[in-house]
Amino acid sequence: MSTTIDLTRDEIESIDSARQIDDILGMPDHLRDALWRVESANLEPYDAPGGLVVAGMGGSAIGGALARAALGDRASRAIVIARGYALPPWTTPDTTVLCSSYSGNTEETLAVHEAAGALGARRIVATTGGKLADAARAEDVPVIPLPGGFQPRAAVAYSLVVALEVAWLCGAGERLHAEIDVAAAHLEQIVETWGPAAPGDCLSKELARGLLGTIPQIAGSGLTSPIAYRWKTQINENAKMPAFAHELPELDHNEIVGWQGASQLGRFSAVFLDDSDLHPRIRQRIELTRGLIEAEAAGTYRVESIGQNRTERLISLVLLGDLVSLYLAVLRGIDPTPVPAIERLKSALARG
Ligand code: F6R
Repeated sequence: MSTTIDLTRDEIESIDSARQIDDILGMPDHLRDALWRVESANLEPYDAPGGLVVAGMGGSAIGGALARAALGDRASRAIVIARGYALPPWTTPDTTVLCSSYSGNTEETLAVHEAAGALGARRIVATTGGKLADAARAEDVPVIPLPGGFQPRAAVAYSLVVALEVAWLCGAGERLHAEIDVAAAHLEQIVETWGPAAPGDCLSKELARGLLGTIPQIAGSGLTSPIAYRWKTQINENAKMPAFAHELPELDHNEIVGWQGASQLGRFSAVFLDDSDLHPRIRQRIELTRGLIEAEAAGTYRVESIGQNRTERLISLVLLGDLVSLYLAVLRGIDPTPVPAIERLKSALARG
């Protein structure tokens, strides 16, 4: 564990054997390529009065949650994320079900794909292949093909854009096509500010050093709620550390009390994900909460999204969290890409 290294590209590459850093830095291109892939699938817009269910797990589910946040009050029908084996009980044939699985072999998503078919709901699949692609092709379900070669979690820009475009296609939200294009251009600049070529004391590297040796608690609200969850899961999978996510204002009604015993139990840190468009009382709560837990925390941080439109602000914080998690892995001397615990669990389940 080292806080002295500068997190230069050479230092990163000596640990990041699969060069996940390049997948993270490639996010602007992924956004544009994803738009092109959805367009190339030639899906016609239609109206689904039953709203949209995005079914998926882990790195393939988060895009749906981020899409719902990017839309905000521009969503016109319910958008629900189904992380599990079942559809929400109120799903009807009028609901669109987007089955999102990077590998195409995730059993929960396969089960939902089948359940949606049995119900007669309209299905769309996003995957690189696997059993999901086979099942979709056998039943004439349209497939949005994702590019291979990534860890599922590194394809987040794809799952975000696919969910946004499908939300528009089925009448659940406004089209954010132009906003995504602007976000991609904007992100190219941010990559320079926080990427490996940035100075050793830039925000992303300083944050990683600050969180090192602590158990991070990430807090979001509204637009930043699913981003907080993304930070948590990226820290889990890339840095192989426990991390937890919660949201404001709810955490002010429970978690804030738990901080009272924090320093006796371990080194906990808190990161508050801020956005200029959050409710003014939430922004006030961030500062007040931070002040109340400070003495018990190993560190507290407030980071604000960057950009004009909602999509660019959302993606700026997703990028920051991805970089922080990868830098944390490097500081810990741990290869960010392999996730042996997930693989072991999936193999054990496959054995029956
Ligand atoms: C691995 C990862 C996982 C997977 C999840 C579902 O990088 O992020 O959370 O996304 O196990 O697998 P897929 O995405 O293949 O359906």
